[in-house]
Amino acid sequence: MKKIKFVLVAFAIIGFLQSCGGNPDSQEKTTVPPVTETPKASPNGIGEVETVTLTDPMEESMIVSGKAIYEMKCAACHKLTDQRVVGPGWAGVTNRRRPEWVMNMITNVDVMLEKDPVAQKLLEECLTRMPNQAVSVGDARAILEFMRKNDMETVGEKDGATK
Ligand code: HEC
Repeated sequence: MKKIKFVLVAFAIIGFLQSCGGNPDSQEKTTVPPVTETPKASPNGIGEVETVTLTDPMEESMIVSGKAIYEMKCAACHKLTDQRVVGPGWAGVTNRRRPEWVMNMITNVDVMLEKDPVAQKLLEECLTRMPNQAVSVGDARAILEFMRKNDMETVGEKDGATK
Protein backbone atom coordinates (compact mmCIF):
# COMPACT_ATOMS: atom_id res chain seq x y z
CA MET A 1 0.00 0.00 0.00
CA LYS A 2 2.83 2.33 0.95
CA LYS A 3 4.64 1.46 -2.24
CA ILE A 4 1.65 2.30 -4.44
CA LYS A 5 1.28 5.65 -2.73
CA PHE A 6 4.93 6.41 -3.38
CA VAL A 7 4.55 5.58 -7.07
CA LEU A 8 1.52 7.82 -7.35
CA VAL A 9 3.37 10.71 -5.72
CA ALA A 10 6.34 10.11 -7.99
CA PHE A 11 4.10 10.25 -11.07
CA ALA A 12 2.48 13.39 -9.78
CA ILE A 13 5.88 15.05 -9.35
CA ILE A 14 7.05 14.00 -12.80
CA GLY A 15 3.82 15.30 -14.31
CA PHE A 16 4.26 18.58 -12.48
CA LEU A 17 7.84 19.01 -13.67
CA GLN A 18 6.90 18.31 -17.27
CA SER A 19 4.10 20.79 -17.29
CA CYS A 20 6.38 23.54 -15.98
CA GLY A 21 9.64 22.70 -17.66
CA GLY A 22 7.94 22.15 -20.96
CA ASN A 23 9.50 20.11 -23.73
CA PRO A 24 12.50 21.32 -25.76
CA ASP A 25 10.26 22.19 -28.73
CA SER A 26 8.16 24.75 -26.94
CA GLN A 27 11.26 26.20 -25.30
CA GLU A 28 12.76 26.87 -28.70
CA LYS A 29 9.71 28.82 -29.79
CA THR A 30 9.98 31.29 -26.93
CA THR A 31 13.68 32.04 -27.56
CA VAL A 32 14.24 35.79 -28.07
CA PRO A 33 15.44 36.49 -31.63
CA PRO A 34 19.01 37.81 -31.94
CA VAL A 35 19.34 41.60 -31.94
CA THR A 36 20.02 42.90 -35.45
CA GLU A 37 22.63 45.58 -35.86
CA THR A 38 20.82 47.77 -38.37
CA PRO A 39 20.56 51.22 -36.77
CA LYS A 40 17.15 52.82 -36.62
CA ALA A 41 16.55 55.33 -39.37
CA SER A 42 17.06 58.82 -38.02
CA PRO A 43 15.40 61.93 -39.45
CA ASN A 44 18.83 63.56 -39.01
CA GLY A 45 20.50 61.21 -41.48
CA ILE A 46 23.93 59.71 -40.91
CA GLY A 47 27.13 61.73 -40.49
CA GLU A 48 28.99 64.12 -38.27
CA VAL A 49 26.27 66.80 -38.23
CA GLU A 50 24.16 66.13 -35.15
CA THR A 51 22.59 69.48 -34.36
CA VAL A 52 22.15 72.63 -36.41
CA THR A 53 21.13 75.94 -34.87
CA LEU A 54 19.00 78.00 -37.22
CA THR A 55 18.87 81.77 -36.86
CA ASP A 56 16.12 84.23 -37.66
CA PRO A 57 16.66 86.50 -39.44
CA MET A 58 18.86 84.48 -41.76
CA GLU A 59 22.60 85.06 -41.97
CA GLU A 60 23.21 87.20 -45.04
CA SER A 61 26.93 86.37 -45.44
CA MET A 62 26.19 82.65 -45.46
CA ILE A 63 23.47 83.13 -48.07
CA VAL A 64 25.97 84.89 -50.33
CA SER A 65 28.65 82.21 -50.06
CA GLY A 66 26.08 79.42 -50.19
CA LYS A 67 24.76 80.80 -53.46
CA ALA A 68 28.29 80.96 -54.91
CA ILE A 69 28.96 77.31 -53.99
CA TYR A 70 25.58 76.32 -55.41
CA GLU A 71 26.38 77.93 -58.74
CA MET A 72 29.80 76.31 -58.89
CA LYS A 73 29.09 72.79 -57.61
CA CYS A 74 25.36 72.05 -57.53
CA ALA A 75 23.48 73.99 -60.22
CA ALA A 76 24.31 71.46 -62.94
CA CYS A 77 22.01 68.94 -61.24
CA HIS A 78 19.71 70.95 -58.94
CA LYS A 79 17.27 73.67 -59.95
CA LEU A 80 15.96 76.18 -57.42
CA THR A 81 12.38 75.41 -58.42
CA ASP A 82 10.58 72.13 -57.75
CA GLN A 83 11.65 70.81 -61.12
CA ARG A 84 13.91 67.78 -61.14
CA VAL A 85 16.89 67.81 -63.48
CA VAL A 86 19.40 65.16 -62.43
CA GLY A 87 18.63 65.60 -58.74
CA PRO A 88 15.46 66.96 -57.08
CA GLY A 89 14.68 70.67 -57.37
CA TRP A 90 15.48 72.50 -54.16
CA ALA A 91 12.22 74.41 -53.68
CA GLY A 92 10.84 73.44 -50.27
CA VAL A 93 13.77 71.21 -49.33
CA THR A 94 14.02 72.68 -45.81
CA ASN A 95 10.33 71.90 -45.33
CA ARG A 96 10.71 68.23 -46.20
CA ARG A 97 14.15 67.49 -44.64
CA ARG A 98 15.66 68.41 -41.32
CA PRO A 99 18.73 70.70 -41.48
CA GLU A 100 20.96 67.96 -40.04
CA TRP A 101 19.79 65.56 -42.76
CA VAL A 102 20.48 68.11 -45.50
CA MET A 103 24.00 68.80 -44.21
CA ASN A 104 24.79 65.09 -43.78
CA MET A 105 23.53 64.46 -47.31
CA ILE A 106 25.92 67.12 -48.60
CA THR A 107 28.99 66.14 -46.55
CA ASN A 108 28.52 62.37 -46.25
CA VAL A 109 26.66 61.46 -49.42
CA ASP A 110 28.20 58.02 -50.02
CA VAL A 111 27.18 56.66 -46.61
CA MET A 112 23.77 58.34 -46.88
CA LEU A 113 23.09 56.65 -50.23
CA GLU A 114 24.17 53.35 -48.78
CA LYS A 115 22.31 53.43 -45.47
CA ASP A 116 19.75 56.21 -45.14
CA PRO A 117 16.29 55.04 -46.29
CA VAL A 118 15.18 58.50 -47.51
CA ALA A 119 18.36 59.01 -49.54
CA GLN A 120 18.02 55.52 -50.96
CA LYS A 121 14.48 56.24 -52.07
CA LEU A 122 15.68 59.39 -53.86
CA LEU A 123 18.34 57.35 -55.60
CA GLU A 124 15.68 54.91 -56.80
CA GLU A 125 13.73 57.83 -58.25
CA CYS A 126 16.66 59.73 -59.76
CA LEU A 127 18.76 56.73 -60.88
CA THR A 128 21.98 58.76 -60.56
CA ARG A 129 24.27 58.82 -57.56
CA MET A 130 24.93 62.30 -56.28
CA PRO A 131 28.75 62.62 -56.31
CA ASN A 132 30.84 63.37 -53.25
CA GLN A 133 32.22 66.85 -53.85
CA ALA A 134 34.26 67.22 -50.68
CA VAL A 135 32.11 70.02 -49.28
CA SER A 136 33.15 71.06 -45.75
CA VAL A 137 30.62 71.22 -42.92
CA GLY A 138 31.00 75.01 -42.90
CA ASP A 139 30.26 75.26 -46.61
CA ALA A 140 27.32 72.88 -46.22
CA ARG A 141 25.94 75.19 -43.54
CA ALA A 142 26.22 78.15 -45.94
CA ILE A 143 24.42 76.16 -48.63
CA LEU A 144 21.67 75.33 -46.13
CA GLU A 145 21.21 79.04 -45.43
CA PHE A 146 20.93 79.68 -49.15
CA MET A 147 18.29 76.90 -49.35
CA ARG A 148 16.30 78.56 -46.55
CA LYS A 149 16.36 81.83 -48.43
CA ASN A 150 15.38 80.04 -51.63
CA ASP A 151 12.45 78.36 -49.84
CA MET A 152 11.11 81.74 -48.73
CA GLU A 153 11.32 82.98 -52.31
CA THR A 154 9.86 79.90 -54.02
CA VAL A 155 7.32 78.44 -51.57
CA GLY A 156 7.00 81.19 -48.94
CA GLU A 157 7.93 78.93 -46.03
CA LYS A 158 11.16 77.53 -44.61
CA ASP A 159 12.35 75.11 -41.88
CA GLY A 160 9.02 73.24 -42.01
CA ALA A 161 10.75 69.94 -41.24
CA THR A 162 11.84 71.23 -37.81
CA LYS A 163 8.34 72.19 -36.71
C1 HEC B 1 25.89 65.11 -60.72
C2 HEC B 1 24.65 65.63 -60.19
C3 HEC B 1 24.61 66.24 -58.81
C4 HEC B 1 25.38 67.27 -58.30
C5 HEC B 1 26.53 68.00 -58.99
C6 HEC B 1 24.86 67.54 -56.99
N1 HEC B 1 23.82 66.70 -56.69
FE1 HEC B 1 22.67 66.72 -55.00
N2 HEC B 1 21.61 65.17 -55.70
C7 HEC B 1 21.79 64.55 -56.92
C8 HEC B 1 20.90 63.43 -57.03
C9 HEC B 1 20.78 62.50 -58.22
C10 HEC B 1 20.16 63.39 -55.82
C11 HEC B 1 19.12 62.36 -55.37
C12 HEC B 1 19.84 61.24 -54.63
C13 HEC B 1 20.65 60.37 -55.57
O1 HEC B 1 20.09 59.82 -56.51
O2 HEC B 1 21.88 60.27 -55.34
C14 HEC B 1 20.62 64.52 -55.03
C15 HEC B 1 20.07 64.86 -53.80
C16 HEC B 1 20.44 65.96 -53.06
C17 HEC B 1 19.79 66.42 -51.88
C18 HEC B 1 18.50 65.85 -51.27
C19 HEC B 1 17.35 66.62 -51.93
C20 HEC B 1 16.00 66.27 -51.41
O3 HEC B 1 15.02 66.67 -52.04
O4 HEC B 1 15.88 65.62 -50.38
C21 HEC B 1 20.47 67.50 -51.43
C22 HEC B 1 20.16 68.33 -50.19
C23 HEC B 1 21.55 67.72 -52.36
N3 HEC B 1 21.50 66.78 -53.35
C24 HEC B 1 22.48 68.74 -52.23
C25 HEC B 1 23.48 68.99 -53.16
C26 HEC B 1 24.46 70.04 -53.02
C27 HEC B 1 24.54 71.01 -51.87
C28 HEC B 1 25.28 69.98 -54.13
C29 HEC B 1 26.45 70.88 -54.45
C30 HEC B 1 27.49 70.98 -53.47
C31 HEC B 1 24.80 68.88 -54.95
N4 HEC B 1 23.72 68.30 -54.34
C32 HEC B 1 25.37 68.52 -56.16
C33 HEC B 1 22.68 64.92 -57.91
C34 HEC B 1 23.64 65.90 -57.78
